[in-house]
Amino acid sequence: MSLLRVGVIGYGYWGPNIVRNMYALDTCEVAALCDKNPAALQRARRTYPSLHTTTEARDVLTAPDIDAVAIVTPVWTHYELARAALENGKHVFVEKPFTATSEQAEALVELAGRNKLRIMVDHTFLYTGAVKKIRELIDKGVLGPLYYFDSTRVNLGLFQHDVSVLWDLAPHDLSIMDYVIREKAEAVVATGGSHLNGQADMAFITVYFPNNALAHINVNWLSPVKVRTTLIGARDKMLVWNDLDADEKIKVYDKGVNVTSREGVYDLLVSYRSGDVWAPKVDQTEALKAELASFVDCIGNGKTPFNDGEAGLRVVRMLEAADRSLSERGKAILL
Ligand SMILES: NC(=O)c1ccc[n+]([C@@H]2O[C@H](COP(=O)([O-])OP(=O)(O)OC[C@H]3O[C@@H](n4cnc5c(N)ncnc54)[C@H](O)[C@@H]3O)[C@@H](O)[C@H]2O)c1
Repeated sequence: MSLLRVGVIGYGYWGPNIVRNMYALDTCEVAALCDKNPAALQRARRTYPSLHTTTEARDVLTAPDIDAVAIVTPVWTHYELARAALENGKHVFVEKPFTATSEQAEALVELAGRNKLRIMVDHTFLYTGAVKKIRELIDKGVLGPLYYFDSTRVNLGLFQHDVSVLWDLAPHDLSIMDYVIREKAEAVVATGGSHLNGQADMAFITVYFPNNALAHINVNWLSPVKVRTTLIGARDKMLVWNDLDADEKIKVYDKGVNVTSREGVYDLLVSYRSGDVWAPKVDQTEALKAELASFVDCIGNGKTPFNDGEAGLRVVRMLEAADRSLSERGKAILL
């Protein structure tokens, strides 16, 4: 099978990870790299001396020998670059968050569908061993019906100048939540604050699902310590995912609460179950490598990735709802 030829646009903080992982795949080749900043390209050429580089995005977007474009630039540029790529017949791998508005995301999904092209949105965490394991445990019914998903992603910085903490960090948690909870989210409530540059630097998001399941997401650039912990409470088991724990990222607790009488609140008999704890084995493959391999595979074999444009659009809709709720002091916004 011929190699997929990919052009990469953007070689700032995250772009080098995309290029490095593409070089490691034997199913694709990096045909060109674009960054409008010549210093970024110079940095890239030191590592990849034979790489074709350009400061003009148009060179990549219109090159007849490029099959797909990876867009690794700030969010406000995603729509124009992705639209040009799709109009020129190229598949698109685009960073999170997919676009700056849901209208843009809808237009890209429609354009890709019309031109029979694939979109993959870089929701990197969905390809981690931890998230794959959580989804497997939920799908197999090990945890039982879900009560809540509660995710904390806080540390000091990195402050972004063009997006709030919501649009920077919450796409990770919202995409994970969207992937592991199969129900369709119904409403979003968000509160938060901005203390330094006018952008929200801390936010608490609550997402409501049917069947009484709730998700809560805490994102914060003003935390003295780094925390990456998700609690999942369910009827039969409870789970803790600590992404900073190198060896035992996931622990499953056989803990729960049994209510033995429903005869009225005064007769409620509650018993607590406290059993074993186990740490399932989690695949350690670098998520981005697995994700890019899947991108190439989806294009080569006509498959739709689970982190497609529709998944990106669902996350952007929740971010917009969170923004609106935050500006209206926690008003519930229906999705
Ligand atoms: N998946 C993840 O875990 C993850 C992690 C970090 C960043 N990101 C995402 O990656 C994207 C880029 O973030 P970053 O931190 O690398 O930003 P960055 O500002 O460090 O780098 C962006 C680069 O794009 C270049 N650029 C901007 N507009 C351009 C254009 N029109 N043509 C050519 N080059 C252009 C800039 O010169 C810069 O070098 C964002 O969407 C961000 O949310 C994702």
